[in-house]
Amino acid sequence: MNTSRIFTACHCVLAGAILFSPLAIAQDLEPLPASAAADGDTPEKVELGKKLFFDPRLSATGTVSCNSCHNLMEGGDDSRATSMGVNGLTGPRNAPTVWNSVFQASQFWDGRAETLEEQAKGPMVADVEMGMVGHDQVISRIKEIPGYVDEFAAAFGNGNGVTIENAVKAIAAFERTLITPGSALDRYLAGDTRAMSEAQARGMELFESVGCVECHSGPALNGWHPASDAEFVEFPRYNDLSYTSKYDLETDRGRSKASGDDGDDHHFKVPTLRNITLTAPYLHNGQVPSLDEVCRLMAETQIGVELTDAEVADLVAFMNALQGEFPEITLPRLPVRSGETVIHDSKSFTVGNE
Ligand code: HEC
Ligand code: HEC
Repeated sequence: MNTSRIFTACHCVLAGAILFSPLAIAQDLEPLPASAAADGDTPEKVELGKKLFFDPRLSATGTVSCNSCHNLMEGGDDSRATSMGVNGLTGPRNAPTVWNSVFQASQFWDGRAETLEEQAKGPMVADVEMGMVGHDQVISRIKEIPGYVDEFAAAFGNGNGVTIENAVKAIAAFERTLITPGSALDRYLAGDTRAMSEAQARGMELFESVGCVECHSGPALNGWHPASDAEFVEFPRYNDLSYTSKYDLETDRGRSKASGDDGDDHHFKVPTLRNITLTAPYLHNGQVPSLDEVCRLMAETQIGVELTDAEVADLVAFMNALQGEFPEITLPRLPVRSGETVIHDSKSFTVGNE
């Protein structure tokens, strides 16, 4: 580690003092809760939300579902630098994982949605994602499918049928089941000191002592603690010019675009590190291809420290201890309109007609 570090946060001192008590060092890290269900998340709502999540008919072309970009069969992302929606259109940002997204104070890289419900309204009508012209089009298409009309009534009560508010409530209820407790770190924090390897334990100590935990704290390692407000931090904080130009870190202005406040320029939400081994490439623009490189970059741009190769290896080992147990998900059968398609208007949604 470079000894001329700019950084003098208390974590270094603290970790030095309690170096021989790994469990004490882990004090800023917390186990992931075993459930995140909200009041009113009934099995009917969760099942309906799962169907909507997997249903590509909620997109203009009938080809793109939430799962296209948040693939639940793997990391809950799409493995791409930036996502591809209808008609091959690409957006400017990397798809974050939806696993454990309930454990964050705001949604999107710039936190422009406060809740999962509010977030879920966005992609259906984003022209580079699912491309519907408006929520009315989404709702009229769902209403054409009798099985859905029945399932909305069963989940929300008769007379409360198919509305966009109910659709996003169901999707959010399903998302609250997408949690992955039981990682090696969780078992370690529960007292099983053999749950992590030596390299992983060394990586955890370094994560604390070097100061990663200043931002990546709490159950999801994203600074979120129950009832905490959304926080955004400057990125890059120390303007390391080589990383900034190599990975195009100046273009996206982050939070300020959402808040309209210049003081938020280049501020971003601290992302979760749970299952981070499964969600390459990294950062808001997906420009960094590997986990070791993003750890090295973080140390320099956020802390002003240059890590040795051995330290990077230990940090990456620790990140491996953050992979949790995934609940089994069976693919839902989706209701159809008997003998008739509901994709009437895909021709009007071709590239060039946007
Ligand atoms: C075309 C790809 C695409 C589709 C389809 C898509 N998303 Fe996303 N999703 C993204 C991208 C890219 C972001 C980040 C955008 C940003 O921050 O500006 C995102 C962000 C999110 C987030 C916030 C996660 C976080 O950590 O901040 C959630 C939750 C989410 N999407 C759920 C959904 C749901 C539910 C659907 C379906 C209704 C959906 N997405 C459809 C690409 C997609
Ligand atoms: C000052 C706050 C801060 C500190 C300290 C910090 N990070 Fe980060 N970290 C962030 C922010 C903000 C991002 C998202 C950056 C962006 O916009 O792409 C991030 C992103 C990451 C990512 C990529 C996540 C993804 O999904 O693409 C990893 C991995 C990571 N940090 C690990 C670390 C490690 C390891 C350390 C310590 C060496 C560290 N961070 C220190 C704030 C911080």
